[in-house]
Amino acid sequence: MNVLLIGSGGREHALAWKIAQSPLLGTLHAAPGNPGIADHAVLSDLDVTDHAAVVGFCRDKSIDLVVVGPEAPLVAGLADALEQAGIAVFGPSAKAAQLEGSKGFTKDLCARENIPTGAYQRFNNAPKAKAYVRAEGAPIVIKADGLAAGKGVTVAMTLEEALSAIDDCFEGAFGEAGAEVVVEAFLHGEEASFFCLCDGDTALPFGTAQDHKRVGDGDTGPNTGGMGAYSPAPVMTAALIQQTMDEIIEPTMRGMAAIGAPFRGVLYAGLMIDAAGPKLIEYNVRFGDPECQVLMMRLKGDLLPLLKAAAEGGLADLSAHWSDEAALTVVMAAENYPGTPRKGTPIAGLDAAEATGAKVFHAGTAHKDGRLVANGGRVLNVTATGPDVTTAQARAYAAVDAIDWPGGFCRRDIGWRAVEREGKN
Ligand code: AMP
Ligand code: GLY
Repeated sequence: MNVLLIGSGGREHALAWKIAQSPLLGTLHAAPGNPGIADHAVLSDLDVTDHAAVVGFCRDKSIDLVVVGPEAPLVAGLADALEQAGIAVFGPSAKAAQLEGSKGFTKDLCARENIPTGAYQRFNNAPKAKAYVRAEGAPIVIKADGLAAGKGVTVAMTLEEALSAIDDCFEGAFGEAGAEVVVEAFLHGEEASFFCLCDGDTALPFGTAQDHKRVGDGDTGPNTGGMGAYSPAPVMTAALIQQTMDEIIEPTMRGMAAIGAPFRGVLYAGLMIDAAGPKLIEYNVRFGDPECQVLMMRLKGDLLPLLKAAAEGGLADLSAHWSDEAALTVVMAAENYPGTPRKGTPIAGLDAAEATGAKVFHAGTAHKDGRLVANGGRVLNVTATGPDVTTAQARAYAAVDAIDWPGGFCRRDIGWRAVEREGKN
């Protein structure tokens, strides 16, 4: 099977690493890829916004399956173009990708299908949104409707913050994504990420994780794409997973089929867990980054048949098997991230880090003058496994300490919640 993998992050390096282990694989191509992905795939500078060019590439290279990593190409309809050309694709249609592309779309689906989530209202102008927020009071959550690279959500602890977030949205801080705003009740509880592979019909549970969105230790400072993650999420017991399938995932699959947009690919549910059970915070229509890295470390067996079945149907006949071990990844980021990161700083010591038994996935790296340098915000994902999160954490940080990169930084407390829990056992 020849595969084209689209994307260039740590998520895609983890997918490439796992796909490359498949005995079914012929050639793996990646566009655009990164220096880590280049260990497993032939890189191409194919323009993935040019759907005709992607279809042409697939015909030329006899691609049997396209695996789309990030959400933007999905929301832009790349899967539709491939499907029309008869090429199997792992990832939803543009219509189904609205689950991530429009927060209002997802909230309306929740309302129709009775899916537990925070109370909400949609607004297309600031005065009405502000009147609602004044009536509801803080804390309250303001969300730009569209894709805003993870930056469109303000969890406002005060009324002033909420009002100014509404102004930001309607004054264009998130471009078109902010032309509509969702105002949502603040949810209390513990967050968890839950993944399912879906073939339009069947949803197959595909692991749990917790990530750390804030840049600083103790979950402080601005939001980022994610500074680290671990799997499994201890809060997601078997009973909670079942409840999530029954109350959230299955109604979503039915609701999407009912509007002619059956969901295929990976459905990533961001959940808030409290005593009553899980509530949906949001959906993503792709793997989490860096959650994918810890899932791939724990997945036993061949990933390719699962991705292929998600694309073409047949997931009901397959199952996923997981290592009992915990996996934990620490994101190393370039100085000043999540502001404009400082690029070009040299990185060394990756071999020494991997000699400890850890796996280092590349995100924003590049080769320059024969050296590995930083080329983005999140740069490396240092990932380790162990019998518990405490051990996986110690191993991941031992590998981090073997890396020589003065231009980078990381959080030192990834996994703290689970470590604290394990300390009490
Ligand atoms: P998102 O960019 O949609 O993932 O949201 C970013 C983060 O905002 C989530 O991971 C939550 O921590 C937080 N968040 C979003 N919606 C709510 C809510 N209704 N209540 C509390 N926290 C929320
Ligand atoms: N790590 C969060 C995300 O991928 O959306």
